[in-house]
Amino acid sequence: MHLPDYKEARTRDKRNYKRVDFKIDNNIINKYSGKKYFIKTYGCQMNEHDSENISAMLEKLGFNKVDNYLDADLVLLNTCSIRENAHNKAFGMLGRLKHLKLEKKDLIIGLTGCMAQESSVVEDILKDYKFVNFVIGTNNLYELPEVIDEAIASNKQQIEVYSREGDLYEGLPVVRANSYKAYVNIIYGCDKFCTYCIVPYTRGRERSRKKEDILKEVKDLVDDDYKEVILLGQNVNAYGKDLYDDYNLADLLEEIAKMNIPRIRFMTSHPWDFTDRMIEVIGKYPNIMPNIHLPVQSGSNKILKLMGRRYTKESYLELFNKMKKIIPGVTISTDIIVGFPGETEEDFQETLDLVNYCKYDNAYTFIFSKREGTPACKLPGEVNEEIKEERLHRLNEVVNEYFLEKNKKLEGKILKVLVEGKSSKDNMYYGYSETNKLINFTGNNIKLGDIVNVEIESAKTWSLDGRAI
Ligand code: SAH
Ligand code: SF4
Ligand code: F3S
Repeated sequence: MHLPDYKEARTRDKRNYKRVDFKIDNNIINKYSGKKYFIKTYGCQMNEHDSENISAMLEKLGFNKVDNYLDADLVLLNTCSIRENAHNKAFGMLGRLKHLKLEKKDLIIGLTGCMAQESSVVEDILKDYKFVNFVIGTNNLYELPEVIDEAIASNKQQIEVYSREGDLYEGLPVVRANSYKAYVNIIYGCDKFCTYCIVPYTRGRERSRKKEDILKEVKDLVDDDYKEVILLGQNVNAYGKDLYDDYNLADLLEEIAKMNIPRIRFMTSHPWDFTDRMIEVIGKYPNIMPNIHLPVQSGSNKILKLMGRRYTKESYLELFNKMKKIIPGVTISTDIIVGFPGETEEDFQETLDLVNYCKYDNAYTFIFSKREGTPACKLPGEVNEEIKEERLHRLNEVVNEYFLEKNKKLEGKILKVLVEGKSSKDNMYYGYSETNKLINFTGNNIKLGDIVNVEIESAKTWSLDGRAI
């Protein structure tokens, strides 16, 4: 048994982590043939991609995927800790699974993802959720096949969570959920320690994958006819800093842009270490999509400082303006938190002012949620619930207005869309533009996975309608 420990999770010494190749014990390959698994994924793209690796590991054990948890022999929750409601959703699901297990005694239940890295969650599971067969952390996810096998063979609860960053595993198997767009991890962990955020504790220290491993993965995706790669990291801008003296995200983007892949995206970028050269490279290559997610969090310098964001409103706007100037047709989206401790009406007004200036193409807005063990938990000046709700509501009204205003400007324009599917509801195709707008459209002889020209006929707040030409 290995239990999570926040003190260790916070440690950032420059110990050497190992790079190892994933292996699976031959004796357990296909051992569970005929059994079925269900996986529920909460949280970010990183977790979605982890679930693609988890699915592949389970399929190596012989499990087949099902879409309804009631049909499964094994249910795995890949959890998220970012805000309290993500937490509550996972515990709600555990409640339902408890009932199911009363009828289905052999059901195997497991939990992984960021919540597995939280001591308080694991304590609750040890005490009140004894029906959970195993918990495995994000730092040692590659041990999943062995942990599941042990949980089944021993019929004892397995808790295997390491709080120090794990070794960096290459060659994890993957079953990709999308045949045209592929996630590629470039860096794990986060060292930014924004004061509200739990990620640096649940995902460990920043660890970059070697450029050769990344380029090889992208090359294989090109050979398999993928149309889009999405480079993933909690802060992709830090790519390479722990590994190389003279190779960073700009270099990696440039090398990938020269490969034969039609679309490249990356997420997420922290404004603090977005370099001029990165902006130049993004502007220079047409296959690096002109859409940047640039979380601002707040428009008040006082709050940004309390959040530990390392930039000011002024330096953020300078960066924002530079991107708009240098990257042709760029769209910028953001994340904003309201109700951070100490946020006054004036601070909130500054956030509204910033939004009115930036007129974001998209924005994810959140109410501050206290995460146990993070410094913001202890800050004075808690904002009361009603005020937080009211600010979120006001903020959403403003951001939504700009989404529509921006989309309206696209009416009559022709956009390139990667066709991802056809909706059974209205029989329309859907896909995303280069600027990451959701487009629903009609057309003849459309093939999924093609990039087609769509003339935009009408704009909505969150999507656009059009017809292929
Ligand atoms: N690494 C990414 C963010 C990942 S979390 C980045 O730095 O851009 C996604 C978003 O969740 C954050 O940008 C932030 O807006 C929000 N968030 C994180 N912790 C939060 C908390 N404790 N309460 C409310 N929102 C939070
Ligand atoms: Fe969290 Fe900040 Fe790291 Fe993003 S950069 S994951 S908000 S600590
Ligand atoms: Fe959630 Fe962990 Fe992602 S906390 S947002 S799943 S890194």
